[in-house]
Parts: sequence; C-alpha cells; structure tokens
Amino acid sequence: MKLLVLNGPNLNLLGEREPGIYGTGSMEDCLKTLNEAFPTDEIVYFQSNCEGALIDRLQQARREGIEGVALNAGAYTHTSIALHDCIRSLPFPVVEVHISNVHARESFRHVSMIAAACCGVVCGFGLDSYRLALEGLKLRAGGGQKA
Ligand code: DQA
Repeated sequence: MKLLVLNGPNLNLLGEREPGIYGTGSMEDCLKTLNEAFPTDEIVYFQSNCEGALIDRLQQARREGIEGVALNAGAYTHTSIALHDCIRSLPFPVVEVHISNVHARESFRHVSMIAAACCGVVCGFGLDSYRLALEGLKLRAGGGQKA
C-alpha cells in the first residue's frame, strides 16, 4: 500500500519538545521503524506547521495513489473544522493519531474536531501510535471491519 504519515504543528520538534510527554525519539527514528515494520509498503512523510499546507497535502494525496493516512494534526486536532471538511472529502481512510493520551491531559485536548471524519483514533502509545495506525489502515484494506 501507499500510505501517508502526516504531522502537524510542532511535531518537527519530536525528541526535543517536552520529552516527558512525547518521548526522546525523533520522527526520523519513527519512520525508520515504520519502514522496517512495513517493508512492502511505500510510506510517504510530510510535516507542516501550517493548517493550509496540511490541507493542500491531503488534497494532493488524492492525485498520487495514497490509500490511507495516519494524521497527527497536533493542536489543529482540537480546532480545525477545515481539516474535518478536508478529511470528509477524501476517498481513502484517515486515522487520527496522537503520541500522548490526550484524554489524560488538559480538557481542551479531550475535544477532537477531526475524529468524526476519521475511520479511527489511536492515542497514548508514544511513537508506536503511528505503527498501530498503519496496522489499522492495512487491516481495513484487507477486509477488516469497516464500521
Ligand atoms: C498531540 C496531542 C495534541 O494535543 C498536541 O497539541 C500535539 C501533539 C500528540 O501527538 O500527543 O501537538 O497530537
């Protein structure tokens, strides 16, 4: 499968940013792990701190054969109706991803503007959340439960 891992604001600082919450591993480490875990899949990565750039990247994914997206929209998760609308327009599934357990944190992180547009949510497993999200997309593509 051709899968997109898409990271939003401040996730370019993984490994340096609040390591007590997000750990010390970098996204480069995570992508290496993903490529080892899914050797027959093509994993495309993009990160932006800008909401519009994330939307542009998702719209571009429609034209390049992407079959599923693991999206960590960072703080835009909690605010972006524009991302919600964009996800709803896509012909492939999107999994909402969080490194931390957002439900064990501040109440403003308990709300997701995008979850209802996504096929599922993975949160709280550190960088393994990305791997679990890709597992979910592959399971779904292989005829798993679609509800
Ligand atoms: C995050 C959780 C968000 O609330 C936060 O704004 C982030 C990272 C996570 O991966 O745990 O930037 O999405």
